[in-house]
Amino acid sequence: MCGIVAYIGKKEAYPLIVDGLRKMEYRGYDSAGVALLDQELSIYKKKGKVQDLENFVLNSKIKPTGTIGMGHTRWATHGEPSDRNSHPHTSGNGDLALIHNGIIENYATLKDALIELGHTFKSDTDTEVLVHLIEEIQKKYDLPIEEAVKKSLEKVVGAYAIVVMDKKNPDLIIGARNSSPLVFGLGEDEFFLASDASPIIKYTNKVIYLEDEDVISIHRNGEYKISNLQNKTNNHQIKELDLKLEELEKGGFDHFMLKEIYQQPATIEQSMKGRLNASEGWAILGGMSQHINRISKSKRIIMMACGTSWHSALIGEYLFEEIARIPVEVEYASEFRYRNPIIYEDDFIIALSQSGETADTLAAIEIAKEKGAFVYGIVNVVGSSIARITDSGSYIHAGPEIGVASTKAFTSQLSVITLMALYLGHERGKISEGYYRQLLNELETVPRKVEQILKKNDHIKYIASEIKNASNALYLGRGYNFPVALEGALKLKEISYIHAEGYPAAEMKHGPIALIDMYMPVVVIATNKSAYEKIVSNIQEVKARKGIVIAIINEDDTMIREIADFFIEIPAIAEPLSPLLSVIPLQLLSYHIALMRGCNVDQPRNLAKSVTVE
Ligand code: F6R
Repeated sequence: MCGIVAYIGKKEAYPLIVDGLRKMEYRGYDSAGVALLDQELSIYKKKGKVQDLENFVLNSKIKPTGTIGMGHTRWATHGEPSDRNSHPHTSGNGDLALIHNGIIENYATLKDALIELGHTFKSDTDTEVLVHLIEEIQKKYDLPIEEAVKKSLEKVVGAYAIVVMDKKNPDLIIGARNSSPLVFGLGEDEFFLASDASPIIKYTNKVIYLEDEDVISIHRNGEYKISNLQNKTNNHQIKELDLKLEELEKGGFDHFMLKEIYQQPATIEQSMKGRLNASEGWAILGGMSQHINRISKSKRIIMMACGTSWHSALIGEYLFEEIARIPVEVEYASEFRYRNPIIYEDDFIIALSQSGETADTLAAIEIAKEKGAFVYGIVNVVGSSIARITDSGSYIHAGPEIGVASTKAFTSQLSVITLMALYLGHERGKISEGYYRQLLNELETVPRKVEQILKKNDHIKYIASEIKNASNALYLGRGYNFPVALEGALKLKEISYIHAEGYPAAEMKHGPIALIDMYMPVVVIATNKSAYEKIVSNIQEVKARKGIVIAIINEDDTMIREIADFFIEIPAIAEPLSPLLSVIPLQLLSYHIALMRGCNVDQPRNLAKSVTVE
């Protein structure tokens, strides 16, 4: 949440920073701002999107100049989205400017103390308190700016990634992080700091991922120093990133979400590459094989995640229990971290996260590690915090996911979890050779089957046009498809703002059935062969109350197509693999409904892609 980008070099900083902010905008879009240093410190900031900032700068009398600068795109925490609460914030004397991603938890105490000392504040933010604190400490102890930043951060409780610029030091930028990501990019005579590598990759693929409590000073001549709050110098390795610029563009699609939905045949394939060979009969993951003795002896699996990743984990519960016969608990990371959970050393903990930066998931991992558990990460973003703090793990290799609503990461997480369950089940001798081989073979067919489903886009668009004015929607599924119902409902509510709920189909009669009338669309995932008759009965119950049934069915279905108002056919597949297919029409349905309702599909209101605050 909140995107940060900073530049020091020989070029004009403003165009570079604005270009970087556009790439960071998925992290928050309540306001945007830029600070530039060219003898004077100039600040431009505006409520709204990066485009609003650009329009404001175009119309302003002062041309944005300077070869050192920084920009921020905000997801509001403290203080409403407004011009005055936008970053950068400045010190009382106007010498320092600061941008921040995170939350300063003890800001109120610090603010009171600073007010006592005569400071006055222009915004409602926690961030402004920090820049005043640095000013105060610098003045009180007569410290160089780097030292003042460090000493101030010692007093701060909370999460932060910050960049500080000082009018008196026009050849220096300072960055620091704790629990919020910050990447240092090393180009030719130019240097960058950013929340992730996307604004940097156009200029250099050499980066250093800063660690918690790191403070970095970067001088224009290329000298840089990273040390922690205890003044210990940290020599981090420079990493070479394998990220292509075109991966960050829409590539001819109207929206990132649509591009990412359509990428799924390729991304699912990529997630299984080198990990699955059906003809030779194996599934293996490097991150697991190194620890397979420990993992296969585990008495219990705990899966932790948030949002869509939590839905993947729920499907993981079904997969691991059926295929590997290990009991699984699925935890909301945000609940797990605060309830003194019981963790045994022989638990196998799996943390799932697309971004690898979700604050609650990170905190839950820390707790599990403190209690001696082995933590495995299933992460998309390479080099992210969760990828780095887990004991081992597997990347899902979905490539950058920029649409705020997660789509391709979900299916890639599912394919990786399925491979893990198969590998573990086989290793533990809990799955018959025949069933193992069948699932491996069918897994290889998934990308082509997803392609077939994507061809139904026009039909799905038509269904969207029929139900787009609904105020509520229900999603029902059984077994492996119950978490898909949750995911379908989440996709709809987050981008179209239609209230939607997912339920196990059989639970409907324990309450939600009261909501059903002729205006209520009920999306039923009805592909499960094992509970077919029961699902037919559920659909009959909805029809008897005049609900509008949209059924996801298999191509060979005979009964449901006759009773549903609308149906979408998907190819048949073994039940444990069915979520990989059944979620695709639900993603497209939400996309079209949101678009028809005039919603911003890629940047839904109040949301951000990377939830780095709790
Ligand atoms: C929904 C969505 C969110 C994320 C959640 C966890 O479409 O994107 O619910 O799934 O914020 O994020 P990660 O997976 O990055 O930990």
